[in-house]
Amino acid sequence: MAMRDFESRDGKMIFAGMNVEDIAKEFGTPVYVTDEQRVRENYRAVYSAFSKYMETEVHYACKANTNLAILSILRQEGAGIDAVSIGEVETCLKAGFDPSKIMYTGVFVSEEELKQVVETGVRINLDSVSEMEKLARIAPGTKVSFRITPGVGSGHGEKVITGNKGAKFGIPRDKVVETYLHALDIGLEPVGIHAHIGSGGQSVEPFVDEAEVLAELINQIDEAGIKLDFVDIGGGIGVPYKPNEDEMDLDGMASEVTDVFEQNTDVRKIIVEPGRYIVADSTVLLTACTDIKDAETKKYVGVDAGFNTLIRPAMYGSFHYIADGSKFGRACTSRYDIAGPLCESGDYLGHDRVLPEVEEGDIMVVYDAGAYGFTMASNYNSRPLPAEVLINDGKAELIRERETPEEQWRHQKVPERLQR
Ligand code: LLP
Repeated sequence: MAMRDFESRDGKMIFAGMNVEDIAKEFGTPVYVTDEQRVRENYRAVYSAFSKYMETEVHYACKANTNLAILSILRQEGAGIDAVSIGEVETCLKAGFDPSKIMYTGVFVSEEELKQVVETGVRINLDSVSEMEKLARIAPGTKVSFRITPGVGSGHGEKVITGNKGAKFGIPRDKVVETYLHALDIGLEPVGIHAHIGSGGQSVEPFVDEAEVLAELINQIDEAGIKLDFVDIGGGIGVPYKPNEDEMDLDGMASEVTDVFEQNTDVRKIIVEPGRYIVADSTVLLTACTDIKDAETKKYVGVDAGFNTLIRPAMYGSFHYIADGSKFGRACTSRYDIAGPLCESGDYLGHDRVLPEVEEGDIMVVYDAGAYGFTMASNYNSRPLPAEVLINDGKAELIRERETPEEQWRHQKVPERLQR
């Protein structure tokens, strides 16, 4: 899957069959707009890549995007869920997922949360010995799997690598076999093994390295007398955020990784947990140009979305391609920084972008905003959370209303003495 190419009609960008200016006019900006068919296609691409080789479950890592409508699309597709908190579990139940389709993988889980998770009846993937002991007390006999630290890391940046030695996630490699035996001893039933190397890496190699580590551990666990039903390789499949960037060879990855398990272990079921791959390019963020400023050393396109709306550029230095949807396809002649309305110099969406001559009112389109866009948005500067829209069959529907100021105050209480 390469970075998406959109059609231009009368100089306006067409997204999922609709003119982006019309969408912005109808729903206001900033707004996240999702193409339903693209979510479905991405899910099917992952499922078919792996299921060609091995029995497969695709667990959508819902941290990427938890909108109930988007979850419902994936439920219809037959997806399972990777959930990291009781909140995500409850959201997915609300979207109609059966508890047996949801796997909970927490980190530093409180006893209280674990109890609530057990109540829901979802599958549990344990991250530590301490969590295992808590679970054995709360719910003896539970089928479990363990997240292990593979010692292999990968990702689009430091902050999203999770599988390296010393990471806060998982059971260290040299403690894995004893932990499985310990689980058995205290009355749990280990049925699987899980690892996640990191998020957004573009090369196949770390996944193969990870698979080799998992295969070796599966065999050691087997020799210790425990047969596992499934191996879960986590998520992390990268997507191209830049034009002409190479895409990850998904089919090659699926074939090599499944081959490692088929050749070397008895495990015949694989679980994958992609978040980004399924939703990133299904969604664009539309943000209106509110101001053009010539600031001596550079020119700014001021827009109404800041890092309160999309934090990835500010937080990770991530690149999101940005186009002028109102002058789409026109020659790019000017260089700009695209920056938001927050009172921080770190508030930007893109540096040094070549665009057509942008004018106030133009609808700027931020690409690949469907993963970790809305879910990481905040109320900073008391700005409301943005609206979300879903397009299917040439029709746009609101799937989340823009927040109101009242909603930002609704949980606050002012002591009586301060009301005078
Ligand atoms: N499974 C586990 C256990 C995970 O921790 C994650 C992501 C995934 C699956 C899904 O990874 P994906 O397929 O989406 O790469 N906020 C960051 C990404 C953090 C990902 C954390 N864990 C970003 O905006 O890039």
